[in-house]
Amino acid sequence: MMLKAVGWAERPFTHSSMNPSFSFSPRLVTKLDEVRAAIAAARRDGKTIGLVPTMGALHAGHLSLVKRSRQECGFTVTTIFVNPTQFGPREDFARYPRTLQTDLALLGPTGADVVFAPEAGDVYGPQHATYVEMHGVAEPWEGRCRPGHFRGVATVVLKLFNMVAPDRAYFGQKDYQQSLVIRRLVADLDLPIEVCVCPTVREPDGLALSSRNVYLSPAEREDALAIGRALRRAAELVQSGQREAAAVAEAMRAVLATAPGLRVEYLAVVDAETLQAIATIDRTVLAAIAAFVGPTRLIDNTLLSP
Ligand code: PAJ
Repeated sequence: MMLKAVGWAERPFTHSSMNPSFSFSPRLVTKLDEVRAAIAAARRDGKTIGLVPTMGALHAGHLSLVKRSRQECGFTVTTIFVNPTQFGPREDFARYPRTLQTDLALLGPTGADVVFAPEAGDVYGPQHATYVEMHGVAEPWEGRCRPGHFRGVATVVLKLFNMVAPDRAYFGQKDYQQSLVIRRLVADLDLPIEVCVCPTVREPDGLALSSRNVYLSPAEREDALAIGRALRRAAELVQSGQREAAAVAEAMRAVLATAPGLRVEYLAVVDAETLQAIATIDRTVLAAIAAFVGPTRLIDNTLLSP
């Protein structure tokens, strides 16, 4: 992928610079020493650093993280990197949407300060040989369905943490297990970073925003809506007093069965901290679904409190 780095001096001067309701495109940097220099300058100005790691193909879910970082930190670094090590050999790495120019245009109005989009060869050099292996919360569900996925996620996120050295890092509840993996990484490796997990942003019809939604045909998108419906059904049941995890799971399966083109990969009603099975909903539990709609794999979840 060829990237054009736009330095401060090259930034186009438009009428937006005279109108505070418009904002510039954020500064795009591709090299580690450049992003470190920008961060060092922000630190010298006494700013706290917020990091929003993404794989691009940005949507309102990603932008909500950037906005939150902007509210809480003086300087926000958004990273865009489609991380090869977190994709399995039969997954969609090659066709994962790459929309850098659109991403930059979307980030402009949020006021993201710097976008760091490194080249793959700069992140993983030819001699790269170090990976983060996590047990515990990285093992079930996504870990089982996508062997090596969290190894790739934990490795790249640790690298991004070391590159940016943020005070805070922002992740979405949409990838709930991933957020637990990151929290574990930070706790286990004593990283001085506050992990902030932000709510899932949805379409009005309940479909969780995902970069992979662009793969869905109209009929597949219709089937995908059953995922959100199943999660809402789970929430209703718990709210109305249902405390048996198996009964909630069964009701969710019944909702999913109404979508002919949807194939459930897993459906979990589990302890929200350990991700282990529970019989009784007597604490906060996670209801999570992974399903294929055609060739597209979607995940979603909700937290249920008794
Ligand atoms: P990506 O799928 O691009 O997601 C980047 C961040 O956006 C993640 O923290 C994800 O949980 C969050 N996100 C995605 N959809 C969301 C939604 N609908 N509402 C709120 N937040 C949402 O997750 C990754 O990239 C990668 O694994 C990464 C952490 C960048 C490591 O490569």
